[in-house]
Amino acid sequence: MHKVIFDTDPGVDDAMALLFLHASPEVELIGITTTFGNGSIETTTRNALYLCERFGIAAPVARGAAAPLVGEAGAPPSFVHGGNGLGDIALPSEIARTPDPRPAHRLIIELVRAHPGEVEIVAVGRMTNLALALRENPGIVGLVKQVVIMGGAFGINGVLGNVTPAAEANIWGDPLAADEVTGASWPLTMIGLDVTQKTRMPTPFLRALANEAGDAGRFIWDISRFYEDFHLKGGVDSIYVHDSSAVAYLLDPQLFETRRGAIRVVTEGIAFGQTIQKPADTGFPPTAWDGRPEHLIGTGVDAEGLRRLYRSTLQNAYR
Ligand code: BDR
Ligand code: CA
Repeated sequence: MHKVIFDTDPGVDDAMALLFLHASPEVELIGITTTFGNGSIETTTRNALYLCERFGIAAPVARGAAAPLVGEAGAPPSFVHGGNGLGDIALPSEIARTPDPRPAHRLIIELVRAHPGEVEIVAVGRMTNLALALRENPGIVGLVKQVVIMGGAFGINGVLGNVTPAAEANIWGDPLAADEVTGASWPLTMIGLDVTQKTRMPTPFLRALANEAGDAGRFIWDISRFYEDFHLKGGVDSIYVHDSSAVAYLLDPQLFETRRGAIRVVTEGIAFGQTIQKPADTGFPPTAWDGRPEHLIGTGVDAEGLRRLYRSTLQNAYR
């Protein structure tokens, strides 16, 4: 069993990833922590609570950072996820589920300390909550089983960023946090655009989910209409599978090819938010990567296998 903390900014693809985690018989979801990103922190926390209420997810939901470590949160990308973060579907005005009283980073620390060596963190938003947890309690580094991040773009096969030519959204939203999180010596894998843009879910796939995966499948269909339209306007005829790719790595790392090496994040200048790995087998004169821990990045993916895993997991859980 994977004991998972899901750090998230729901978000259409975040919601799809949360349902994937909830549907997996190998996952025990022990905490959900929210961050600003695809919406304000009020919006993303409301959405996480709504998802938990609607789909009977019992894990505590703790509200996290409203802004990056330095500077202010940019305007949410409502053109990607809709103004309400869930593709502008109708949402109830009242939600009975309430947030955990602890801030997100403290819930992370307490859960990690309560289950030493067991907790796996899947982080699919800005890295701010993780950085705050590290700053408050650096000792958690030795207690976490692994961290799987959806974030970054490493130029594998020429893949660029999606906010600027250099930067992917989750990292661009708080590059300092990402540099601190990738500078920590915990087992960490970054699943970036290099692989998440290779895996797409076309309309017939989403329609099949709607027909075969009960209320969850119909919900995914509904929230993905706006998201699909955003992709279509950009000339992409199917949706990218960002956050669920991090979940798939947790469940079946064999679906991915990876490369090891130290990671740095550019925190100022025109390449703000760029992620750069120094592959482990390369030699240079002294660099800013020296002395940093080596981590994995995703370089290849079995897209068909990933889609199959997603579909069968949801069908089995929700049909
Ligand atoms: C990432 O940014 C967000 O819009 C998505 O939820 C995903 O986590 C992709 O760049
Ligand atoms: Ca996300």
